[in-house]
Amino acid sequence: MGKSKVLVVGGTGYMGKRIVKASLAQGHETYVLQRPEIGLDIDKLQMLLSFKKQGAHLVEASFSDHRSLVDAIKQVDVVVCTMSGVHFRSHNILLQLKLVEAIKEAGNIKRFLPSEFGMDPARMGYALEPGRVTFDEKMAVRKAIEEANIPFTYISANCFAGYFAGNLSQMGTLIPPRDKVHIYGDGNAKVIFVDEDDVATYTIKTIDDPRTLNKTLYLRPPENVLSQRELIGKWEKLIGKELEKTSISEKDFLSSIKGLGYAEQVGVGHFYHVFYEGCLTNFEVGEEAEEASELYPEVTYTSMDEYLKIYLQN
Ligand SMILES: NC(=O)c1ccc[n+]([C@@H]2O[C@H](COP(=O)([O-])OP(=O)(O)OC[C@H]3O[C@@H](n4cnc5c(N)ncnc54)[C@H](OP(=O)(O)O)[C@@H]3O)[C@@H](O)[C@H]2O)c1
Repeated sequence: MGKSKVLVVGGTGYMGKRIVKASLAQGHETYVLQRPEIGLDIDKLQMLLSFKKQGAHLVEASFSDHRSLVDAIKQVDVVVCTMSGVHFRSHNILLQLKLVEAIKEAGNIKRFLPSEFGMDPARMGYALEPGRVTFDEKMAVRKAIEEANIPFTYISANCFAGYFAGNLSQMGTLIPPRDKVHIYGDGNAKVIFVDEDDVATYTIKTIDDPRTLNKTLYLRPPENVLSQRELIGKWEKLIGKELEKTSISEKDFLSSIKGLGYAEQVGVGHFYHVFYEGCLTNFEVGEEAEEASELYPEVTYTSMDEYLKIYLQN
């Protein structure tokens, strides 16, 4: 059996461009949705053209034109969607319901991977307002997929390193502090950090794998299951200096939500579940799901010691 043809929806996005790259690298015939709505966005267009140069096919379709989506989907076997889902950038998770409708009508898709790539929404039914919107909307998409009997894989990628490791998990910055750092509670809850390129590699590995059919794939690279203190320790070793640490109590962290804008409130809720509750690691993967580094030991993933080096000054 040949390798599946893949359509990437959201291909010019933060995660999407990595999925396109991984799909091409793993030898899949790769199609990328080109939306007419990008209009004069020269950066998006140039990125799409660069995908084409690397061997991808661009396929025009719009979320406002059901028929165009169906026609695009009919050209491939697998759809990977990386629709936006970070509130301070853009959040359109529910738009995927239109994609689900089109996949249902096309009737040829062997696997659909919706835009997930974070905490497992099925485990976040109790999450705080307003951050729970992310999980509720991802669950609404799952419900539509499963009701339509579309074969799926859900990727639970945990914390993208660019958002959570590079800044030592500090909110409001993407670069690591050099003097002072905030610690969430005792800083010992285990968190999982994953290089975004590795997320893409594992995601594409899974699409033709019968072991992940209709399952959740958790990304838990063993060396990257770290507490915030352990992550900070790696940075301190790299810069040869101990940072001044201030612990934020659970109560103070939660009350900081008052007066923040909506996007920040969503962020505080997510950080709370990850860093105070340890929601990424307080369960076993179990029989019903799979773990990526176990299924694909051939993937050499990036450790956080290595990842943090890029933030060192020359
Ligand atoms: N675990 C983590 O730490 C973490 C961190 C960040 C994101 N995530 C998750 O990763 C997924 C992707 O997020 P991202 O940050 O990569 O997204 P993004 O870069 O903000 O956006 C991805 C793509 O969404 C498409 N899009 C946005 N608005 C649209 C609209 N109105 N109509 C049609 N398409 C639209 C665009 O596709 P085009 O290319 O067609 O323009 C865009 O490039 C989300 O599910 C998010 O929750 C997880």
